[in-house]
Amino acid sequence: MYQEMNLDNINLNLEPPIEEPARQYYFMAKCREWVWDFEQKNGRSPKACVVNMGCQMNAKDSEKLTGILSQIGYEKAPDEHADFVIYNTCTVRENANLKVYGHLGLLKHEKKTNPHMRIALCGCMMQEPEVVEKLKKSYPFVNLIFGTHNIYKFAELLANSLESERMVIDIWKDTDRIVEELPTERKYPFKSGVNIMFGCNNFCSYCIVPYVRGRERSRRPEDIIREVRQLASDGVSEIMLLGQNVNSYGKTLEHPMTFAQLLKEMEKIEGIRRIRFMTSHPKDLSDELIRVMKESNKICRHLHLPLQSGSTNILKAMNRKYTKEQYLDLAGKIRQEIPDISLTTDIIVGFPGETEADFEETLDVVRKVRYDNAYTFIYSKRTGTPAASMENQVPEAEVKVHFDRLLKEVQTIAREQAARFSGTVQEVLVEERNEHDSRLLTGRMSNNLLVHFPGDPSLIGKLLLVKLEECKGFYYMGTIS
Ligand code: 5AD
Ligand code: SF4
Repeated sequence: MYQEMNLDNINLNLEPPIEEPARQYYFMAKCREWVWDFEQKNGRSPKACVVNMGCQMNAKDSEKLTGILSQIGYEKAPDEHADFVIYNTCTVRENANLKVYGHLGLLKHEKKTNPHMRIALCGCMMQEPEVVEKLKKSYPFVNLIFGTHNIYKFAELLANSLESERMVIDIWKDTDRIVEELPTERKYPFKSGVNIMFGCNNFCSYCIVPYVRGRERSRRPEDIIREVRQLASDGVSEIMLLGQNVNSYGKTLEHPMTFAQLLKEMEKIEGIRRIRFMTSHPKDLSDELIRVMKESNKICRHLHLPLQSGSTNILKAMNRKYTKEQYLDLAGKIRQEIPDISLTTDIIVGFPGETEADFEETLDVVRKVRYDNAYTFIYSKRTGTPAASMENQVPEAEVKVHFDRLLKEVQTIAREQAARFSGTVQEVLVEERNEHDSRLLTGRMSNNLLVHFPGDPSLIGKLLLVKLEECKGFYYMGTIS
């Protein structure tokens, strides 16, 4: 286990080991020498800031980067006024990319005032060759660029970069490798994401993820169980199992296993009180999973089930592999079996070829399923995906009108859905002090709704019963029961 790997015992006069993760610990020790040298010269520790710009997988990767930086001896900086800034990028929609260029523009000036400053870029956006070309040409002050497949090599790449004045770039096209046992630093002491698989094989026609995250690979159940046991013994009570399509977990393992079976293994782990997961693809959601969820008192009453579109024609063009009716049947079955479940979704508006009638089908599904929450997105053209070269792109003005109509509808329904728990007592995991009123704490219910209630900060991290007094739209005010 990495906790037992002591950097002091590593002999830097020897060649770096070939095997992983030992090789990375060698480079962590090497970077630590650089940090000591920095401290001698400057009378302070170097400060680093990891900026997470994407989804939960991205956030989990950022925790790994932070864990390595802590081992090396970097201090954490609260913002980008730091000696080392790492942008962990996303590229699922174009505006994610634009945001990165905007940040880099600002850092260019910051770098002039801080001669120590180094900048690294990693994550999904770096897997796009055009992006790297643009960075080389227009942003030469960036020190280090790496991708999603070699993030485990961060220590080694940083060591190379610290020794070089030139831009260090290392991007792999794909990998079948999963390196275990590297350090990580969790954001919350009481809850944690756990990767169960990487990559995606679905190739939805609008989506860039399969190109930037590579083919689907599942972690071995014994590695996941070991990690979760360790988390439980560190005081974690809630885990979120992470994957692009958790319902196809285990298909590529040497000894195949279903996601529902993995959940049952997770349930057995003492100390873990709540289990969440993200994301489910409707085409792979099994009756076995519904049954396991229904019978469980640890699996949270929340299912994120991306719809993307309610029109069977558009779903076909999206390569989603289900029809409107199949989706409605599935959602109906879940609501019937687990009535108190919260169903949430993702919807894209303005996919190429989407007509008024197609959009009405989406609204129809929204009204029938009555989502507890829905994330709505305007279709964004991603280079290299099949949808980007479809001819019938929808004019922006039309998309905007549909988007606003959809948003209004999902918000009205979500408010009504949230209110259905008024007056009940719910178990919540206390997550933090309320941002706006420090006398209040914020807790998360099993169904993912938030409730704010008066309480002492010593309760943070605990599971408590809270009475839901007043629904304020998408959240509640309550009192400890
Ligand atoms: N345009 C708009 N939204 C997209 N998503 C993925 N790709 C695109 C795209 N090209 C949305 C999907 C997915 C969520 C994570 O992001 O709804 O479920
Ligand atoms: Fe993208 Fe579809 Fe894979 Fe989700 S399932 S990551 S939307 S390709």
